[in-house]
Amino acid sequence: MAVDPLIELRGVNKYYGKLHVLQDIDLTVGRGEVVVVIGPSGSGKSTLCRTMNRLETIESGSIAIDGRPLPEEGKGLAQLRAEVGMVFQSFNLFAHKSVLANVSLAQTKVRGRKKEEADKRSHELLDRVGLASQAEKLPAQLSGGQQQRVAIARALAMDPKVMLFDEPTSALDPEMINEVLEVMQQLARDGMTMVVVTHEMGFARSAANRVVFMADGRIIEDRTPDDFFTNPRSDRAKDFLSKILKH
Ligand SMILES: Nc1ncnc2c1ncn2[C@@H]1O[C@H](COP(=O)(O)OP(=O)(O)OP(=O)(O)O)[C@@H](O)[C@H]1O
Ligand SMILES: [Mg+2]
Repeated sequence: MAVDPLIELRGVNKYYGKLHVLQDIDLTVGRGEVVVVIGPSGSGKSTLCRTMNRLETIESGSIAIDGRPLPEEGKGLAQLRAEVGMVFQSFNLFAHKSVLANVSLAQTKVRGRKKEEADKRSHELLDRVGLASQAEKLPAQLSGGQQQRVAIARALAMDPKVMLFDEPTSALDPEMINEVLEVMQQLARDGMTMVVVTHEMGFARSAANRVVFMADGRIIEDRTPDDFFTNPRSDRAKDFLSKILKH
């Protein structure tokens, strides 16, 4: 299948002091593709995500989104951050603003929408993530799973070209994990391009087009989920899977 590349990393290297945290990373994510990134703690998964919307700088190589190199600063950078939605483990919602206001805020500030227009879009998105009836509540009045769905709606409100998820369910109680994964599954079915760091192997199997396995700052395997899970090639991946699948 020919891919229409949306994200392209070529020869990306990044250091934290002496630590070579990303080593010669080549990665292409096609439009509409879902790529799950897995690997041991400290292998560079979060750093990889954070370079894609320039929350982290790189020392060498290139990163392009939709054919354009990542802007370094200023207006272009703000625009990029809007185009590349990011959802973290912690939701980072404004505690003293309503759910609706949380989803509307960046739409008015960054996208320049009028308040009414932003609120209309927020209501649509809250409905999409199953929170239509929670718009007037404060974040603290919602469960962790609900708050994470607000964070997803907030990112979607910017009409991103791609969504990055860095362990979006790992801070949640087990019974709330599925409600977040279901929203992500639906997004994938709707054709959103997604890069997802997760330990949820069920999600990887059912939603991912590709699994990227990282160890020590390198991409060791980049395969279909079926190939990867039934026939991991590297010892690192075999070892990792034997540990993670025991749980
Ligand atoms: N701001 C930083 N300054 C210095 N070192 C850092 C910084 N952020 C991360 N590191 C180091 O870089 C390496 C990769 O970190 P990263 O957070 O990308 O790993 P990860 O694969 O996301 O791990 P985890 O599964 O624990 O989230 C680790 O050794 C980490 O300690
Ligand atoms: Mg991480």
